[in-house]
Amino acid sequence: MAHASWVFTPQFNKTTISPSIPVIRSRLHPHDRVNIRVSCASSVQGADNPSRSQFKPIRVVGKGCKLVGCGSAVPKLEISNDDLSKIVDTSDEWIAVRTGIRNRRVLTGKDKMTGLAVEAARKALEMAEVDPDDVDLVLLCTSTPDELFGSAPQIQSALGCKGNPLAFDITAACSGFVLGLVSASCYIRGGGFKNVLVIGADALSRYVDWTDRGTCILFGDAAGAVLVQACESEEDGIFGFDLHSDGEGYRHLHTGIKENEAFGTNGSVYGFPPKGISYSSIQMNGKEVFRFACRVVPQSIETALENAGMTCSSIDWLLLHQANQRILDAVATRLEIPADRVISNLANYGNTSAASIPLALDEAVRGGKVKPGQTIATSGFGAGLTWGSAIIRWN
Ligand code: ACO
Repeated sequence: MAHASWVFTPQFNKTTISPSIPVIRSRLHPHDRVNIRVSCASSVQGADNPSRSQFKPIRVVGKGCKLVGCGSAVPKLEISNDDLSKIVDTSDEWIAVRTGIRNRRVLTGKDKMTGLAVEAARKALEMAEVDPDDVDLVLLCTSTPDELFGSAPQIQSALGCKGNPLAFDITAACSGFVLGLVSASCYIRGGGFKNVLVIGADALSRYVDWTDRGTCILFGDAAGAVLVQACESEEDGIFGFDLHSDGEGYRHLHTGIKENEAFGTNGSVYGFPPKGISYSSIQMNGKEVFRFACRVVPQSIETALENAGMTCSSIDWLLLHQANQRILDAVATRLEIPADRVISNLANYGNTSAASIPLALDEAVRGGKVKPGQTIATSGFGAGLTWGSAIIRWN
């Protein structure tokens, strides 16, 4: 099992020569702490020929990052539980009681996941009032890219980002968006990036076996995006986080290469030349995934809160990956967070994987529920297995 939880807390180290230099306390492993000092120097006045009186100390630029815009997009086609009961042996009552889901949106025909991602990203840029040319990094969090080699560059191109931002995919299933958010903060704090688009987008409907009532009732397609922007440390809006993976748990939730196709005989030498491959539909042990989520998510949020120097009472909203209302309820109960502080929209969209957190955030922001300055504990969990939490402030 691997895990990482870094805390970006500007604090004064006793050994630091100047109290104005922010220190990043990086906790790669609880037993292996390293202190890294990061400073960015602005131009020094009179640097060409400074006299002693002209010399000014290096100005340390704050290395905060904040969420300044969000957007989302869903396909037009809505499939209700009753619609599903016409193709598999199920009912609205069974699905609603066990999951809280009533509807989901599904991509049809030639519509693509990248189309949703571009729409969500455009809305986030509009809200942030940031020109596409000023984006310097596009992170597409997805497990269902339209292009195996990565769909982020196509999104960069479709957005018309002429500033040539770096664009690449992050694959971590339903934890993808939280990993993207944390990655954005690392690129800003450590790499000097200024405007990072983090997009969570998935089309799991294309990997679902629509004859399997155990899985097809859960998933839907969507995209959500946020713009994370560099700012002074006082305005910092990503306080602490906690990330994990556990490949042992892979067997509980996966969509692997169909082995009989990949490794079958296609010539005189067994297994060579390889055949074209395809992926199996989603294979899931629902009970194990349910138990895993209820066990790890509260722990992870508590660790992220501790890293941020906060407690559950400091947060305004709990925003979990929208997998199952019973998981949301169990985590909230365990953390003693009242139901009216839990953001939930899965009744309308089901589990949209990496899109679910930014989609729910966007609805809550545009609906006036989440207000500027409010603190959100967010957590993603799912295939890999992967899971992670971040404590963030909206705008
Ligand atoms: N309609 C009617 N009956 C059903 C359905 C259905 N859609 N699905 C299963 N059943 C039946 C089963 O056949 C079983 O019948 P039996 O008792 O006669 O054998 C019975 O209902 C109970 O089935 P379980 O699978 O035990 O039901 P459970 O209470 O565990 O609920 C569910 C299943 C909803 C999938 C639940 O386990 C769950 O939500 N797990 C978490 C899944 C999840 O969140 N996955 C996504 C993770 S995110 C990512 O990375 C993609």
